[in-house]
Amino acid sequence: METILILDFGGQYNQLIARRVRECNVFCEVKPYNTPLEELRAMEPIGIIFTGGPNSVYLDDSPRVDPDIFTWGVPILGICYGCQHLAYSLGGEVTPAQDDSAREYGKTVTRYDTGCRLFKGLPEEGVSWMSHGDYMAKVPEGFALTARSDACPNVAIADEARGFYGVQFHPEVNHTEHGVDMIRNFLFEVCHARGEWTMGDYKNTAITRLREKIGSGKVLLALSGGVDSSVAAALLAEAVGPQLTCVFVDHGLMRLNEGDEVEEAFAKWDLNFVRVDAGDRFLLKLAGVDDPERKRKIIGEEFIRVFEEEAKKVGAVDFLAQGTIYPDVIESGAGDAAVIKSHHNVGGLPDYVDFKEIVEPLRMLFKDEVRQLGRELGLPEYLVSRQPFPGPGLAIRIIGDITREKADTLRLADAIFREEMARAGEDRNANQYFAVLTNTRSVGVMGDGRTYDYTLALRAVTTSDFMTADWARLPYELLDKVSTRIVNEVKGINRIVYDITSKPPATIEWE
Ligand code: XMP
Repeated sequence: METILILDFGGQYNQLIARRVRECNVFCEVKPYNTPLEELRAMEPIGIIFTGGPNSVYLDDSPRVDPDIFTWGVPILGICYGCQHLAYSLGGEVTPAQDDSAREYGKTVTRYDTGCRLFKGLPEEGVSWMSHGDYMAKVPEGFALTARSDACPNVAIADEARGFYGVQFHPEVNHTEHGVDMIRNFLFEVCHARGEWTMGDYKNTAITRLREKIGSGKVLLALSGGVDSSVAAALLAEAVGPQLTCVFVDHGLMRLNEGDEVEEAFAKWDLNFVRVDAGDRFLLKLAGVDDPERKRKIIGEEFIRVFEEEAKKVGAVDFLAQGTIYPDVIESGAGDAAVIKSHHNVGGLPDYVDFKEIVEPLRMLFKDEVRQLGRELGLPEYLVSRQPFPGPGLAIRIIGDITREKADTLRLADAIFREEMARAGEDRNANQYFAVLTNTRSVGVMGDGRTYDYTLALRAVTTSDFMTADWARLPYELLDKVSTRIVNEVKGINRIVYDITSKPPATIEWE
């Protein structure tokens, strides 16, 4: 498979570069800059991209790649730090920008030499997104200057003969006009990619590989009903159906009809589908608990216990399958960052289940590719395009202590909200939306009588990475309709509020 190697120097947009490449139907992998050279070479990349990064290339301890890479005869595109690294390694000079005017941050009008292969077919002028405090004082021999801004004569450099290109700006971000076209030019004009990375092909290759690897072995998978584990299950079902056991632990805190929907989606495959309705067990453990972190802990532990019991019934398995996806693989740890929430994912499994090896068939895929693969495998759209749902489920959307009655109430209200969001087409605009049952009760009047019922909060956010989020500007008519329906149709709720807080300072979930 033709591969683009993305060498990661620690920039914040590195995953975005990988996404852009894959969107052009070219496979790529992100590797740390200090990966042993033999390993990188064994990937036989048709092109290499150096990412940006927070360092200055002229310092002794700045990240550098073994210069042998420049002798491979493989085209290289350096972005921001990657550009400076390329220039510096090949004999150029990079210095701190002497005055403020040579530092560039943000949107910058840039003029391109469209005779350069990287800018072929583009307008001669456009806005690019800069973020650099260093300056290329001298470009290496053999390089031409191929783009300039008012502040900087060498915004881009190119050695067309060797296929080496550098840009000081970020073509991968949306703020750079025609940035995607530049990446496409690098892939197709410079690296001569064929662009054959499609999910249909991937599906067939993955199925063949899984069959080779698994042979006649037994596979066990914990199915949560989320996108990743559902697609992993479908892929394995297609590859080795009867050898697969999917354990779906329903903790009783799923959304309305969710358990049945998941079960139904897998009915077409010949596999061992084990659904454990463990709602009673979980509710018992959660009785009287109102601390969010304790709820997460209890659910996580209980989940493991139930899963273990089921795994024992299956007996010794050869492979434990997991729905790990590419961002989980390449994301670096948060370091010393404070723990805001433990984010317990109930997919976290005990390491003492009796198995020999792990299979992670989605390890190389981004989320949108996982969804695409799910569609190729014939999973229903409601499963494939599902918004994220936290592992602990409704437990962290019922503020305070949890009872079956509250869970039922919230399920109904949440279903109405989701139904109306879809009807209004707003489900395509908000990235996550749900109802929260607060523990506040207030006085209302219904008919001629007084009520003293719960307040329900609606939450809808727009976000690209779920690390920061803004509240969705939902139409008033939609909010009105949802509010009217919920107070009329759901017993126990007499007041609806809409959460208009961004993250930060709030979080997306209430607990
Ligand atoms: P917050 O509330 O931290 O949520 O802004 C960010 C994203 O993470 C989800 N979330 C969780 N997912 N287990 C999960 O698997 C958890 O305990 C958990 N808590 C929050 C949340 O739904 C949002 O998408």
